[in-house]
Amino acid sequence: MTTQEHANPAEVRLADNCLNDSIAILDFGSQYSQLIARRVRETKTYSEVLPFSVSCEELKRLNPKGIILSGGPNSCYDKFAPKLDQAVYKMGIPILGVCYGMQLMSHDLGGTVEAGDVREYGRALLTVVHHGKLFEGMDPTIESWMSHGDSVTGLPLGFETIGRTMSTPVAAIADEERNFYGVQFHPEVVHTRDGQRVLENFVVKICGCPQTWTMDRFVDEAIRRVKEQVGEKRVLLALSGGVDSSTLAFLLHKAIGDRLTCMFIDQGFMRKNEPEWLVKKFDEFKIPVQFIKARARFLEKLTGVVDPEEKRMAIGKEFIAVFSEESKKLGPFDYLAQGTLYPDVIESSGTRIDPKTGERIAVKIKSHHNVGGLPKDLQFKLVEPFAKLFKDEVRLLARELDVPEGIVIRHPFPGPGLAIRVVGEITKDRLKTLREADWIIREEVKSHGLYRQVWQMFGILLPTLSVGVMGDQRTYMNQIVIRAVTSEDGMTADWARLPYDLLETISRRIVNEVPGINRVMYDITSKPPATIEWE
Ligand code: XMP
Repeated sequence: MTTQEHANPAEVRLADNCLNDSIAILDFGSQYSQLIARRVRETKTYSEVLPFSVSCEELKRLNPKGIILSGGPNSCYDKFAPKLDQAVYKMGIPILGVCYGMQLMSHDLGGTVEAGDVREYGRALLTVVHHGKLFEGMDPTIESWMSHGDSVTGLPLGFETIGRTMSTPVAAIADEERNFYGVQFHPEVVHTRDGQRVLENFVVKICGCPQTWTMDRFVDEAIRRVKEQVGEKRVLLALSGGVDSSTLAFLLHKAIGDRLTCMFIDQGFMRKNEPEWLVKKFDEFKIPVQFIKARARFLEKLTGVVDPEEKRMAIGKEFIAVFSEESKKLGPFDYLAQGTLYPDVIESSGTRIDPKTGERIAVKIKSHHNVGGLPKDLQFKLVEPFAKLFKDEVRLLARELDVPEGIVIRHPFPGPGLAIRVVGEITKDRLKTLREADWIIREEVKSHGLYRQVWQMFGILLPTLSVGVMGDQRTYMNQIVIRAVTSEDGMTADWARLPYDLLETISRRIVNEVPGINRVMYDITSKPPATIEWE
């Protein structure tokens, strides 16, 4: 049987590392490349982000049904501008260029690209000149999101203009003969109304992808592959309580039953009642969890530590120490299961290019701790069934596996937990104060029915005191900051416009119910320039 004839598309992809019936997204350094991949997957079509430098030969081997060229920060005529292997244009498969991708395609195929007088940034109304297949079924005007300085000013042979805006006469182009398309706007961002339709038209109507990428198919295949990989061996899983590791536990339990051991290390930085709740939930599903009590030793390691990165390092180091000791006691294990997601895999292959020097640019803002960097004598083989999935796909998978809804919708929670939300030095008392305030914040956002609308919402305890008055008494006490953000993926975020009455209730309850707090603030900064966490 050839790979083309496989019945199950998930099987093809996972087994053969190929892109049959899928879309390849070539990343030219856009912040939106991953978003394009996610949007394509929403059309039930598998997609992968590949570096722009992938060769035509490699693409032929992967055999995608279509290619999307992403945007990027460069000008296509820059000396070190990222280029496409020219043979890709001769592969005979559809190509959609987005922003830089459209400019590059025009430039490569004989058109002209020039720097405009003004940057077009933000919303722009696109008038459809010719609907064709790309804009099929869409309105005559499209509210679109633009972000460009350069523009296509001369079309390559065979192309026609299919859309324009006030300031960009060539805002969408097509060569329907060769199935080459270009859009200057970003169909992947939510601000482009109906942008998903543009992507779906390309993926389904133009490329002919059969829309067979679904999580119910993925479950069966992932279970089969785990069984095949692990055989009769034992697997250890460090459970954090988040949706990824919990879903992984459910999947592995289904695949290998009691050859899976879930270990939960209680480092003392979880939210109020969370460790107990989690274990109870797993109990209900007959998935046993080894509960490791380690609060005292983590706290001891953090005494006197105030620097955020030092906190992360100390926690990461202690986590590895506890994990090593306990896994030896519970072991031996051959495999370690990790909920590594697709963004973790592609983020490390950054393709940003400095236009002046041609160097690749990597940016690290905070170090995130996970189970990586285990000592040599603890060398497990890895089981990572989610390495090709996005977070939203893990949530869909979780529902397929009947993971409790409370876990599925749980907000992301950082590995170091409350330790990086007690700004400055951590003590048992300060942790308790934050835990109580945080509990109230969560309770209220849930009872106002807004929990699902925000990406994360939590409290931060500041290291400063402020003056207040309670009854007739002057107070000099702690302050809590409420942080609530909306976001698509945590990479950028906006502060949530929460109703005043909700903020008022939270503030009143915290000051009345949590000893030692006399002031509550609301953080109204977006990311960037701030980050979601305070440390
Ligand atoms: P920032 O603060 O960088 O956070 O805007 C982005 C997302 O990452 C989470 N975060 C962490 N997660 N270990 C983690 O596992 C960490 O050290 C860490 N720091 C931040 C944060 O909660 C948000 O979802």
